[in-house]
Amino acid sequence: MRRTIDWADGTIVIVDQVALPGEYRTLTLHTVTELVDAIQRLAVRGAPALGAAGALGVALAARQGGDVRAEADRIAHARPTAVNLAWGVSRALDRLPDGADAVLAEALAMLDEDEQRNRTASAHAVEVVLDACPRRPLRLLSHCNAGHLATVAWGTALGVVWHLHARGLVESVLVDETRPLLQGSRLTAWELEQTGVPYRVQPDGAAAAAMARGLVDCVLVGADRIAANGDVANKIGTYGLAIAAAHHGVPFVVVAPTSTVDKAIATGADIDIEERAAVELTEFGGARIAPEGSAVFNPAFDVTPTALITAVVTEDGVFGA
Ligand code: MRU
Repeated sequence: MRRTIDWADGTIVIVDQVALPGEYRTLTLHTVTELVDAIQRLAVRGAPALGAAGALGVALAARQGGDVRAEADRIAHARPTAVNLAWGVSRALDRLPDGADAVLAEALAMLDEDEQRNRTASAHAVEVVLDACPRRPLRLLSHCNAGHLATVAWGTALGVVWHLHARGLVESVLVDETRPLLQGSRLTAWELEQTGVPYRVQPDGAAAAAMARGLVDCVLVGADRIAANGDVANKIGTYGLAIAAAHHGVPFVVVAPTSTVDKAIATGADIDIEERAAVELTEFGGARIAPEGSAVFNPAFDVTPTALITAVVTEDGVFGA
């Protein structure tokens, strides 16, 4: 699989995640405005991929001249919750005094690092999962998309699945469809299909029932921001999954690179949660599915308290251990 986001001939090339699973195609972004639009439409999404987008966006702005710091600020604020976006912008911006080539070199180094960090974090998480879950082969549950498509390459929570599958240790993955934008059924299921890992898509509301029936050995999710105390912001629905997992004694493991840790945030209560447009809930595929005038509550993320999490695993090992 090609990188989810890359640099080519003075432009940013992304895998267009809005087109999947119907079509696997790339989009070429020539300006910061096109990049911000792609981020807000979720054509590029997932915390580590957003870190890369932030860094490459600053490289683009630096090559094009103008007020690079103002452009960087626009990119950093395109979405509020994943800290990786502002982290990527800030790390690339630090090289601005050395010129546009230095900014690009830093951004490209960050892309290389991302895959390595994800591979290492997910390898550490394999050990945590094997320790916590006695059954073999494993029946895993995934929410949203924390795979190759959410990163430059490899993935975080799905990276664990790739490692385990290579060892013959995965029976199947239950894939939460992940309402309302279906990152689970559109993207995670697509990745599992491509790699030959057995899976079943389920409505988000089936997750607790699957645990009650004893069908889940471990829940694996990614993260958008990890507070200093270990609270985790991730796709809406993650908190409910963690409550269900705790109730049923199912291990709940979070996998993320350290670029997702925000030491400046003491607890999850301080994390800015993105609210998205009402139309994502009132329409489906262009057809109205709620009455005209319906008010909507559409937070894109929620916060799972550290007490409900078995382990947060980064490339440095278990967070806070
Ligand atoms: O709104 P999205 O699709 O950007 O949300 C993504 C998630 O919540 C992922 O689980 C998270 O970014 C981790 S990706 C490795």
